[in-house]
Amino acid sequence: MLNNKTVVLGVTGSIAAYKAAEIASQLTQAGAKVNVIMTKEAVQFVSAITFRALTGRPVVTEMFDLASEFSIEHVSLAKSADIVVIAPATANIIARLAAGISDDMVCCTVLATKAPVIIAPAMETNMYDSPITQDNLCELKARGFVIIGPSVGWLASGKEGLGRLADIDEILESIRQISGRDGDLAGKHIVVTAGGTQEPIDPVRCIVNRSSGKMGYALAEAARDRGAEVSLVTAPASSAPATGVDIIRVGTAEEMCHAVESVAPKADALIMAAAVADYRPKSPSREKIKRGGSGLTLELECTRDILGTVKGNLIKVGFAAETSNLVGNAREKLKQKGLDLIVANDITASDSGFGTDTNRVTVIDKKGGLDSLPLLTKREVAERILDRVAQLLVEPESRLQSKH
Ligand SMILES: Cc1cc2nc3c(=O)[nH]c(=O)nc-3n(C[C@H](O)[C@H](O)[C@H](O)COP(=O)(O)O)c2cc1C
Repeated sequence: MLNNKTVVLGVTGSIAAYKAAEIASQLTQAGAKVNVIMTKEAVQFVSAITFRALTGRPVVTEMFDLASEFSIEHVSLAKSADIVVIAPATANIIARLAAGISDDMVCCTVLATKAPVIIAPAMETNMYDSPITQDNLCELKARGFVIIGPSVGWLASGKEGLGRLADIDEILESIRQISGRDGDLAGKHIVVTAGGTQEPIDPVRCIVNRSSGKMGYALAEAARDRGAEVSLVTAPASSAPATGVDIIRVGTAEEMCHAVESVAPKADALIMAAAVADYRPKSPSREKIKRGGSGLTLELECTRDILGTVKGNLIKVGFAAETSNLVGNAREKLKQKGLDLIVANDITASDSGFGTDTNRVTVIDKKGGLDSLPLLTKREVAERILDRVAQLLVEPESRLQSKH
């Protein structure tokens, strides 16, 4: 996800400095080239060797290091960066950056870089609440720095309060999101639906399905990481949605239809990964239905076809969850709903479909092209689907021609 990205990670003298080791490790595992710079105070908390081992790269701790491999180091690191992250950021570094001081390598790099800069403060509540720190953070925000956290929680002083370094996952999500700003979906608005709709029978019960929402959430996150503005219309799901995504929560198929109708016409693409009920109880009871008699018969009616109601010349991607005749049924659905692509999902396999972290799908386009993907993580499947969407977005003519 961060392949070929260079992240400069500035580590400063906070008790939370040990958490930067996890950030460095996760960034490296995600494919980034991670150049760590430590202040001399940070080295009091964690050894440079830790970062060197985790990143496989030299770690900069000195401004004047003749042995360094970085040429004219104080600017070469700044130039190499796709993104600069200061985590944890002390009150001290925040003040020095706000004042434009450049007396160490972290400050010099931030001053010299053209890359986006994320600051993740970590300090005692009173230091954070101090009007001086708050003014300094406002100054940095006004200059376009992205401030992540801090969060509320256990602090080194033994008290609970505001000032704890933001969750590592939140920092990593922001890095992915910001470094994707110039991705192949930058400037595009993508609407993704996810989750399983719930159709009420009475105030207590409803008709649900087995969708976990994982596929749609993976699509939303991947689109965000490629620079898209993402609207996620979600029915109940088991995953947490990605930050930086516009979330619209719905319950029923009808609510989902309304939500999609309101956001999709201005969008570039709609990806319908939600499991939308095809039928709902015709007359849901206002009162809880009591047990008794010989049983209960529910009369069901069709829900609205969401893809059929969406207007506009946007790219439409549907999903077909099938138990038999996978390709035949998916092709029929693609044609009937006028889709650009359909993702056919065999939900009978245990490692694929509902609830799993992996999926095995076949992507079919309207020209008849068929791409059977191997078993992949849902994130990888999402990337492959978005590759196709990105291609359709840059070739609108071929898409229009093939419509007729
Ligand atoms: C044990 C200990 C923990 C500290 N933790 C923090 C902290 O979490 N946040 C902070 O702003 N300063 C903290 N400080 C103070 C900083 O280390 C000090 O301001 C230092 O000058 C920061 O330097 P730097 O910003 O160049 O890394 C701590 C100091 C000590 C001794």
